[in-house]
This record gives sequence, C-alpha cells and structure tokens, in this order.
Amino acid sequence: MTSIAVIGTGYWGKNHVRTYSELADEGVIDNVKICDLDEKRARELGEAFNIEYLTDYKELISDPKVDAVSIVTPSATHFQLAKEFMEAGKDVLVEKPMTMDSAQAKKLVEISEDTGQILMVGHIFRHHPAVKELKHRIDLGEFGKIQHISSNRLSFGAPRKDMGVIYALGIHEVDMFCYLMDREYPYSIFTAASQCLQTDIEETAMITMDFGSTRAYAFESWLIAAYGKQRDLVVVGSEKTAKIDYLKPQELQIFDIRVAEQDFNGNTTFNVENEGSYTIPIPYAEPLKEELRHFVKCINDRTKPISDGTIGLHAVVMAEAALESATTGKSVEFTRS
Ligand SMILES: NC(=O)c1ccc[n+]([C@@H]2O[C@H](COP(=O)([O-])OP(=O)(O)OC[C@H]3O[C@@H](n4cnc5c(N)ncnc54)[C@H](O)[C@@H]3O)[C@@H](O)[C@H]2O)c1
Repeated sequence: MTSIAVIGTGYWGKNHVRTYSELADEGVIDNVKICDLDEKRARELGEAFNIEYLTDYKELISDPKVDAVSIVTPSATHFQLAKEFMEAGKDVLVEKPMTMDSAQAKKLVEISEDTGQILMVGHIFRHHPAVKELKHRIDLGEFGKIQHISSNRLSFGAPRKDMGVIYALGIHEVDMFCYLMDREYPYSIFTAASQCLQTDIEETAMITMDFGSTRAYAFESWLIAAYGKQRDLVVVGSEKTAKIDYLKPQELQIFDIRVAEQDFNGNTTFNVENEGSYTIPIPYAEPLKEELRHFVKCINDRTKPISDGTIGLHAVVMAEAALESATTGKSVEFTRS
C-alpha cells in the first residue's frame, strides 16, 4: 500500500487532497499528508480532511513512510522540488506545466531514468474518459482521415502573474493535439497572442499547429466573458466529426456528416451527406481521480505512466515554441521524423 503527500494546497492542490482522501477511504492508498508554506491554508485543509499537515517539505523528503508526492506548487518551483524528491527515492507526480523551460524538463526526465523513480505529469486530459473514447475510435479508423482539430478554452477572470495562457492553458492543447494525431511534435507552431493588462503575460492566444495535411487550432483566453467557461474540442474527420465538452466527461458527441466528392465528366461536385448526430454516453469518472488512480497503479506496478516525464517535456518544448512564435511573429519549425 502507498502513502502519498501533496505539496501545495492552493486552488488546484485542494483537489488533489480531496481526491487522495477519497482514494484512502476506498482503500486504494494508505495515507495522505499535506504540506503548504502557508500554515493557515495547510491547517484548515488538514483539519477539514483529518489528515496530518506540515509547512516544510524537507520533512517529507526524510520521511521513510512517504512513498510518493503530488507537486502542486507554482510551476517555477516544480523543477527543484521534483528533483529533490526523486533523488530522495520518492515517486513524483508534478502538475503541468512540468517546468517553465525545456532544459529543466529534460533534466527531470534524466533524473527519473537514473533513479528509477516514477515521474508523471498532470496532463489531465489524457485521463479524461471522453477523450480516451474518442482516441480509441480515431485509432479504429471510424473518423477516416483527420482534417481539422480545434479547441476553445475561454473564460473571464483575473490574470495569473506567473505565466500567460500559453503555459497555463495552451499546454493542454499542444499535448492533446499530438496525442490525437499520434505524433511527438507538429511540423510547426505559429502563435498570435495579445497582452492588454500586463506587458509580459498574454491573456489571449491562438496557437496553430501544422501536422502536414491537418491543421489544429487552440484558442485560449481568460479575457472573454461572453461564453461563460468554455472548454471544448472538435475533431473533423473525412467520415465523421466529434465534439467533446471537457466539462462533461461522460459525453462524446458525434456528427455523422461528411462531404462526398463526385466526378461528372471531369467536373467535381461536392455533396453533403448528413446522417444526423448522437451522443455516446460514457460511464462517469472524474478525470483527476482517474489520473491519481493511474499514478498509484504506476507506483505499485512500477510501470510507465501514460502522461510520463517525456510527455511533459514535449509539452513544455511546444509551449516554449508557441511563446517564441508569439514574440517573433514567425513559425517555429520542428524536425520532421
Ligand atoms: N492540471 C490542471 O488542470 C491544473 C489546473 C490548475 C493548476 N494547475 C497547476 O497546479 C500548480 C499550482 O497552481 P495553483 O493555481 O493551485 O496555484 P496556487 O498559487 O493557488 O497554489 C500554490 C500553493 O503552493 C504553495 N507553495 C508554494 N511553494 C511551496 C513550497 N515550497 N512548499 C509547500 N508549498 C508551497 C503556496 O503556498 C500555495 O498555497 C501550477 O503548476 C498550475 O499550473 C494544474
């Protein structure tokens, strides 16, 4: 059995704490501890869930009873914490973005390989039930040739001060698009971004990824109130189109619609064949719970996570490229393999 500590119990870390507590209640793990520099925050959460809390993560490093940690602190601190915990023999789940630069992400992958510790990254949408179902159907060829992918991740709120929408939100899309296309990287990334409130933090970005005959578009913003909280994914194939509302993990919408091409004596005509739309129901599972359950399984079985350090590294490389493109106004090319 496994004992896990959550480092960082702010906005997102609270969800890790709640979910591990549920896994402890279900007998999947033995014990949960929490650590936050903010003593009040750690105490309140510790008391609410009746779990041990502390403020100095070094105590967890030297605690032989702690097998693994979830690192849910600000992204700039991920590298140092993940490094120290792996070197101390603990397995690590680090939130996305894994690090703020690719050299550090690469180093963490090397440390994981050298120490044999599990390194998983919180690319939560790889654990989303509707995404898994969609990927399965794409791989079966149900959608034909993928022609277009797009995602909107729009909301309205106070901007972060430590990173813009490319690292905070777009990191999900660059990973998702490569996952769906079965590719490590696209051929190129081009990004247009805007900063209205802070000079160095973009609140809106359109990331375009070129996969050859398929283009993928990610529209990210926390400046747009008009749609509420919108988080969706659309995949257009030559045979069918799919839509996922990320906020509804139990639904995959299918549009059985295609454009058929006909040739009449050398003249090409296009006809729309529309056989209607339907929703595939998927058994409900909370993506974060799936992710943490998978982490525990990898710890116990010593297996590679489906969102491992290399996946985290690729996402950081792409986020870095997207930001570079937004700054220079030019595409960033990737080696074609
Ligand atoms: N996977 C997702 O969908 C998702 C969603 C939101 C945030 N995140 C990621 O989670 C991480 C945390 O984001 P957040 O919005 O919760 O931040 P936050 O600022 O709300 O919380 C961070 C917490 O970490 C604590 N902390 C900082 N350094 C610490 C240290 N050395 N030891 C112990 N505690 C420390 C802070 O006191 C704070 O309570 C970020 O990397 C973010 O990108 C992921």
